[in-house]
Amino acid sequence: MKWMYLYGPVSVLLAALHVPAYGQSAARPQVELPQGAVRNVILRNCVACHGIDDYAFHALDRAGWKQLMDVPHKQRGVTLSGRDEKVLLNYLSDTFGTESIPFPRNYIAPAISEFFTNPEARVFLERVCTECHELRVFAHRKDAAGWRALVLDMRERGAKISALNIEKLVEWLARVRGTNPVE
Ligand code: HEC
Ligand code: HEC
Repeated sequence: MKWMYLYGPVSVLLAALHVPAYGQSAARPQVELPQGAVRNVILRNCVACHGIDDYAFHALDRAGWKQLMDVPHKQRGVTLSGRDEKVLLNYLSDTFGTESIPFPRNYIAPAISEFFTNPEARVFLERVCTECHELRVFAHRKDAAGWRALVLDMRERGAKISALNIEKLVEWLARVRGTNPVE
């Protein structure tokens, strides 16, 4: 009898695994820990309370980054030496400067129940993505999160694409141009 109680939730869990992983939760940016001197500055001072992905929500100049470091952080006792602060501000304003596109904070990936076939995806790409430039997706491989960030970036630049179609495209791109291709 005990086993039935155990298997119940497990099979529900397994069934849920067949649902594609792009769920209801808000899409998150993914920031890689940089190399070089700033790596240790971040590891020493910045990862105790929160991760580094949140940096990508911002696109600020050096003064903006300095303010963001000062305002919520100094009162919490996060103070850097002059040298470390310089290294950090260089990295932040170079990587997440005013030229970059801040990751949209409130994008909630809708769950999809329909999936693009290859011809449908091609037609869609031709219609939506060639408005500004030739098709470039075949030069890249990314996982779903990477493709989502790219397509959201294109939407920020003016591509007309609904959240549902973003997710259909992301699912298809991760399927045929993923980092771990089946073919
Ligand atoms: C003592 C804990 C603590 C440490 C250490 C810390 N932070 Fe924070 N950080 C916070 C808190 C709390 C917030 C949220 C402040 C708010 O919402 O007003 C925050 C917010 C941020 C944000 C904005 C996040 C967002 O979602 O917009 C960035 C960027 C950031 N921190 C970068 C850093 C960097 C870079 C360092 C290293 C110098 C650092 N943090 C170290 C506590 C910390
Ligand atoms: C409103 C204009 C516009 C639309 C529509 C558009 N893009 Fe872009 N795309 C850009 C701009 C601007 C850049 C960056 C500058 C550049 O590389 O030309 C870019 C860059 C890219 C890059 C990076 C190029 C590289 O090799 O690094 C890819 C990939 C890409 N777009 C894919 C897409 C996809 C997929 C779509 C359809 C969902 C799309 N774009 C729709 C304007 C657009």
